[in-house]
Amino acid sequence: MAILVTGGTGYIGSHTVVELQQAGYDVVIIDNLSNSRIEVLDGITRITGKRPHFEQLDCCDKAALQEVFARYPDIEGIIHFAAFKAVGESVEKPLPYYRNNLVSLINLLELMPEYGVRGLIFSSSCTVYGQPTAEHLPVTEASPIQPALSPYGNTKQINEDIIRYYIGSGAPVKSVILRYFNPIGAHPSAEIGELPIGVPQNLIPYVTQTAAGIRKELRIFGNDYSTPDRTCIRDYIYVVDLAKAHVKAMDRVLHTPEAEPIEVFNIGTGHGVSTLEVVETFERATGVKLPWSYAPRREGDIEQIWGNVDKAAKVLGWRAEANLDDVLRSAWHWQQRLQEQES
Ligand code: UD1
Repeated sequence: MAILVTGGTGYIGSHTVVELQQAGYDVVIIDNLSNSRIEVLDGITRITGKRPHFEQLDCCDKAALQEVFARYPDIEGIIHFAAFKAVGESVEKPLPYYRNNLVSLINLLELMPEYGVRGLIFSSSCTVYGQPTAEHLPVTEASPIQPALSPYGNTKQINEDIIRYYIGSGAPVKSVILRYFNPIGAHPSAEIGELPIGVPQNLIPYVTQTAAGIRKELRIFGNDYSTPDRTCIRDYIYVVDLAKAHVKAMDRVLHTPEAEPIEVFNIGTGHGVSTLEVVETFERATGVKLPWSYAPRREGDIEQIWGNVDKAAKVLGWRAEANLDDVLRSAWHWQQRLQEQES
């Protein structure tokens, strides 16, 4: 049985391909390489001993997608990662975000029944909750969805609705929507990890690049929030744990007849960690001193969010396992590996 992974050479995609292969699935990757490198396939192959099938194409190209389904008739499930994901960029260029993120999903959904593909796992985000009020922290899957703060976040909300209405119309498809909190870290082998292009926007790549001397100093955005140490709070989830959640979700849509046609799960650790705690933990876990200073708040940042992940534990039998020290060490080892490769 084969699983189609769109965006499979990307950060979360590549870690998920590894876990799928190790669980015995055959994997077909589709990626247009707009934000990833073909060498990721070598990293995956070194870990698993098996090279995934790879098709370079854009999921907005329906005819090309159709050919892939025709060429691999054993595809039974899809994990759809391929999407633009930079929050700030989406505010500057909304239309490419809507086109790319919506058309890809619609194409896949249209083709699924035609090719007998039964299950879809969709990458959503805790961004759909906006800034939850105090009584909704930690957020559960039933917490209110709030107006999106960016076109990126809006595409996640709209895509969730598209899947919901499509399945509600009686389409012969089952779906699990995973709402990720903040994925971080790299595979313990340091063969794959996050590959930010240009100056990283996300915290952990900025931390590891600063520790490596590529960036002069980390700026912690905001020290006047209403949190215990005045910095923002997030739920940082190890990317390998997150990848494993996808395997559980795929098993559920394909092999659990009693599962509802559409199910939503928070995928996080269940714990909030402040930006300052991340910095201190990184220094302790790696022994590397990190130059940092406080800077003004970053526009659009929410103050604090972390997830209630009991539903994933109960229904999927999944829980985050890694501890933050190990996860930050994995990110640092990956950064060191990248530098070895470049020198
Ligand atoms: C954002 C999106 C999220 C998306 C994720 C992946 C929102 C509300 N969140 O998460 O949906 O899935 O990006 O791209 O749209 N920080 C610093 N200094 C830095 C970088 C970050 O202090 O140089 C702080 C931020 O202020 C934040 C925390 O670190 O408090 C995490 O930031 P980041 O890694 O960018 O993720 P989010 O903004 O939480």
